[in-house]
Amino acid sequence: MTVRPAAPADDAACVARLVALFGSQAEVARAFQLDRAVVNHWVKAGYIPARWASEVERVTQGRIPAADIVSEASAKKPVRVKSRPDDAPFGIVPESNPMSSYAPSKRIQSFHPPQRTLMGPGPTEIHPRVLTTMSQPAIGYLDPVFVEMMEELKSLLRYVYQTKNPLTFPLSGPGSVGMEFCFVNMVAPGDKVIVCVNGVFGGRMLENVVRMGGVPVVVEDAWGEPVDPQKVEDALKKNKDAKVVAFVQAETSTGCASDAQQLTEIAHRHGAMVIVDAVTSLAGTPVKVDEWEIDAIYSASQKCLSCTPGLSPVSFSERVVERVKKRKDKIHSWFMDMNLLLGYWGETTRTYHHTAPTNSLLGLHEALLLIREEGLENSWARHQRHHVALKAGLEAMGLNFLVKEEHQLPQMNAVRCPEGIDEAQVRSTLLAEFGLEIGAGLGPLKGKIWRFGLMGYSCRPDNVMLCLSALGSVLDDMGYPVHVGDAEAAAHAAYAQMHASDARRKKRAA
Ligand SMILES: Cc1ncc(COP(=O)(O)O)c(C=O)c1O
Repeated sequence: MTVRPAAPADDAACVARLVALFGSQAEVARAFQLDRAVVNHWVKAGYIPARWASEVERVTQGRIPAADIVSEASAKKPVRVKSRPDDAPFGIVPESNPMSSYAPSKRIQSFHPPQRTLMGPGPTEIHPRVLTTMSQPAIGYLDPVFVEMMEELKSLLRYVYQTKNPLTFPLSGPGSVGMEFCFVNMVAPGDKVIVCVNGVFGGRMLENVVRMGGVPVVVEDAWGEPVDPQKVEDALKKNKDAKVVAFVQAETSTGCASDAQQLTEIAHRHGAMVIVDAVTSLAGTPVKVDEWEIDAIYSASQKCLSCTPGLSPVSFSERVVERVKKRKDKIHSWFMDMNLLLGYWGETTRTYHHTAPTNSLLGLHEALLLIREEGLENSWARHQRHHVALKAGLEAMGLNFLVKEEHQLPQMNAVRCPEGIDEAQVRSTLLAEFGLEIGAGLGPLKGKIWRFGLMGYSCRPDNVMLCLSALGSVLDDMGYPVHVGDAEAAAHAAYAQMHASDARRKKRAA
């Protein structure tokens, strides 16, 4: 269905705009595959119910934004707060009900987030299948059906991590919980740890070592540079008693990749184990736990796995499990004690440890299933393909990447803001006018870079093209010399080149 070009007045009721766009109620009904009576009901009521917001935005190709539908629907039909009579004045305490003095002084309505395009450092957009799965009925965390799902979830995680480690499961909590889980179990007070810091998250690892009572030896690299393997080797030579080497494989704050395989090999040569942060790398770029012999690794659900935030998949090798089991002192966290958590997530027992976030876990199961269906290598290739196109477009606008080409992460693209451009203003205009979220710089890079995430379900060609057009248009408005359309053309050319070389490769293979 093609939408007519005639634009109705922006302040007219959304339903009137919709009918004007399509020409008649009958055409609207056809476009939405609805009975005409439904559209007629919208017209009579003077508004479109909020649940249609995203669909209207999609079908009208953004001419009627979801946010307009939601705010109009909420104004026309406020959600009733059942616990308070409609005529009870807000903010005034009825004598008969002293509990009302704790009630909010304004009427609060159900919250409907607007539709956003998420191209920041995470969270990402979530596939509709995952959202649908998370809205399934509640189920007990010890229900036999749920327990069966947990086993599948663990095996899907082993697939994305490329490991056979029995201890592979999602912790209840964000990536930071995964980080603490590794340090609190593997670092006893007095243990020496080589910590590689080349961005925000290496810095957090250092903080963890200090808080666990470990003795940190910092290997520092500039923000935007990878961890230098030679420096790690030198540090290990000088600190023969180092027990652990900790590093971030994909530094989200800079968009820089470090070589996890090489760093692990060096650590092992010197008798140390590794803790690897794979929060941003997992499913976006290769992570091969068994092949690279990684000891301990953690990630997060809201990056390239594209699930809701709040789960942190971890994996420990058998060697790490043995070491933690042998510790004489008590692990300094009850919640994150590996031995206690295994009572719920282990191979043989399912006993209460804490109330697991059941519906989020259902969502993660579905998100991982989507990756299994796509194929892990295809997922890595998709991240690379859209990165190449986005990069072609950004560079055509004259923007420069922070990180050298060979260390660039496809899923996290950090570019320098041009001189004289208010970077925060660009981000807020992108959000307000295009519903597009991108990331800002952190720490020393605050105000100096933008971070464009291409992670998981957000890593799609439509997002690449929207991002380039929106950014070009905002920069043009702000007086930055861009030729609107050049970036999109460069991205199209990059896609065309990749398609052609794929076709040649397939032909050769046939
Ligand atoms: C590399 C890295 N490590 C750790 C974290 C912490 O994860 P979370 O914010 O889920 O706690 C992040 C978050 O962005 C990250 O990018």
